[in-house]
Amino acid sequence: MRDKLFAKFEELFGNSSRADIYFSPGRVNLIGEHTDYNGGHVFPCALTLGTYGVVRKRTDNKLCFYSLNLTKAGVKEASLESLVYDEELNWANYPLGVIWAFDQKGYKLDTGLDLLIWGNIPNGSGLSSSASLEVLTGLILKDLYGFDNLSMVDLALIGQFSENNFNSMNCGIMDQFAVAMGKKDNAIFLDTSTLNFEYAPVQLEDAKIIITNSKVKHSLVDSKYNERRQESSDALKKLQTKADIQTLGDLTVEQFEELKDVIGDEVEIRRARHAVAENQRTIEAVAALRANNITRFGELMNQSHISLRDDYEVSCEEIDILVDLAWAIPGVIGSRITGGGFGGCTVSIVKNDAVDAFIKTIGEQYLEKVGHEAEFYTVDIGDGARKLK
Ligand code: GLA
Repeated sequence: MRDKLFAKFEELFGNSSRADIYFSPGRVNLIGEHTDYNGGHVFPCALTLGTYGVVRKRTDNKLCFYSLNLTKAGVKEASLESLVYDEELNWANYPLGVIWAFDQKGYKLDTGLDLLIWGNIPNGSGLSSSASLEVLTGLILKDLYGFDNLSMVDLALIGQFSENNFNSMNCGIMDQFAVAMGKKDNAIFLDTSTLNFEYAPVQLEDAKIIITNSKVKHSLVDSKYNERRQESSDALKKLQTKADIQTLGDLTVEQFEELKDVIGDEVEIRRARHAVAENQRTIEAVAALRANNITRFGELMNQSHISLRDDYEVSCEEIDILVDLAWAIPGVIGSRITGGGFGGCTVSIVKNDAVDAFIKTIGEQYLEKVGHEAEFYTVDIGDGARKLK
């Protein structure tokens, strides 16, 4: 692949002998969904799937972007003199947004660049192809332009800042953090209210983590996501009239049950209940994993799905079909929706000897019920974004 990327780079931008190559992963979240903008915990891991970038500084102010995944779009051109969102630029608004974010924070580029990317994260699957690209760009800028004081956590924050303010998606910090800070064979137990984190080894001896892609993405993703954020923050404001809390993550389930009536609105109560309970589940799930109690970890994944489906309402018919099918298979330890929701993927923990049955049964029945095929990936947990040799 590497040779193919350099060859294409050379064809488009001339001699590639002084170009460098970088990699940034996608991520899957094991548990802790829609908690990252509610001051709660998350437990994601970086994948070995991800985005590659071949890059070189230019001598003028041009910014040239090319994706081997979208060859028809051709080279997208922008300029350091005009760092503004442009519909025409399509996917290139992600790297451009990061360049804009660097500029906003005082990290100005002295020249433009040529960037060619290629990725193997399935598009629109909820495995964070955009965060992958943002952190890839951030790392490239840090490295090529000598912004040595920026840490990987800074790059995650800048990626989130660009997505929130340049690409108008009001995401939390989980995706960029997982992509920047990932560690092989470990998930990241992150407290999103402080950004304190610990790595937790995920070494399942007799089971595998399987991602199932529903291959649907409902168009409501961004708007409903922002709506859920609003509902959570409205509920928080009402709770704050009775309790001294900064975020929903500050409450235990018991405390929430005592306070919840102050919220009044039935929908907001359910949204807040999810955020509170999911945070507690995540803390418990990590403890269970550390105690080698994978059965409990799986039960908590299942509860997470029910809460996301019924209280937070971010699932959809196709995803519920995948999860129901998974739950019915002996040897499935846990299964739930993962990521922002309204389509995308499920994540399941499946005993080794049940993996074949899992893929076969769900594959056939999903096709029959939904009318198109699902896709399955066995997860290898990889490292975070880095320069390749
Ligand atoms: C998306 C967002 C994340 C997080 C998840 C839900 O992936 O980008 O910040 O909120 O949804 O857990």
